[in-house]
Amino acid sequence: LLSLPKQKGWAVQHLYLFQHFWCPSTHIQGVINFQKHFQAKDSDVIVASFPKSGTTWLKALTFAILNRQRFSSSHNHPLLTSNSHELVPSLDFIFHGDNIHDKLSHLSNMTEPRVFGTHLPFPSLPKSIKESSCKIVYICRNPFDTFVSFWIFANKINPHSLHQLTMEEALENFCKGIVGFGPIWDNMLGYWKESIATPNKVLFLKYEELKEEANFYLKRVAEFLDCPFTEEEESNGVTENIIKLCSFEIMKNLEVNKSGTFSRNMEKKYLFRKGEIGDWVNYFSPAMKEKLSKIIEEKLSGSGLSFETCL
Ligand code: A3P
Repeated sequence: LLSLPKQKGWAVQHLYLFQHFWCPSTHIQGVINFQKHFQAKDSDVIVASFPKSGTTWLKALTFAILNRQRFSSSHNHPLLTSNSHELVPSLDFIFHGDNIHDKLSHLSNMTEPRVFGTHLPFPSLPKSIKESSCKIVYICRNPFDTFVSFWIFANKINPHSLHQLTMEEALENFCKGIVGFGPIWDNMLGYWKESIATPNKVLFLKYEELKEEANFYLKRVAEFLDCPFTEEEESNGVTENIIKLCSFEIMKNLEVNKSGTFSRNMEKKYLFRKGEIGDWVNYFSPAMKEKLSKIIEEKLSGSGLSFETCL
């Protein structure tokens, strides 16, 4: 473990360089326990992401796809009364603290298919996830919007921190890869490569594509999870209803998301800001744009992965 001593972390988050990624100190115990104790089942679905890339949204969509028969009436849908992080718990944090065995027994009793989230890079996932038949749906987002979303989120959750970084300082760190669960390029490329090598195991999605062609990608996710929508479901508006239920406007305005906290006592309302593509142009100077473009181009070069909206 290499810690980052005295350096101003991302909104006072102390980061440790652990297994080649920067792990927030708040998560290190949970991550180690997750790696050590979690036993994946073949039917599990893992929603993996780099933070601020659309995790909350993809968790909701995945939960809604998998549970559409159990909750066919939209009036009593759990997504109307629970935040998607409550329905799809984060494996990076679930094992924080004591009572590991109680937590394991709770997990083993969860209704199947179980759906979980993680921000861990692919190489750091526990063996049982890699070796079982469970499936991974990964979402990433252009690094410009991801950075802006992260910076604003970090400032909101710690508004009075004396250690707050300016946007330029934070970008310096981001471009060095120093950000929770970063470097961002390693996180994305790990899943990108796996999605090419084992397309039945990892589905790689981009926030921008999901936003622009929600219907197409919703069906893509359902097919990947071996529960494709039938023609009858489509003509009965099931796909449309799921897209609507999980839309930014609906989720943001639900009472359950307007107050209260989720993991690590973060305010749920901060999970929903603008939900747009390209908001970074309102924050980046030409110099900042050049700096991030250069590093992303260099790191992704030759991989086949690119982001139209930023380069
Ligand atoms: P912005 O800050 O750009 O608005 P994560 O869930 O990984 O923390 O990502 C947060 C980002 O996803 C935020 O982006 C947030 O507004 C956006 N978001 C949350 N719910 C969404 C939804 N249902 N549809 C689209 N975007 C959503």
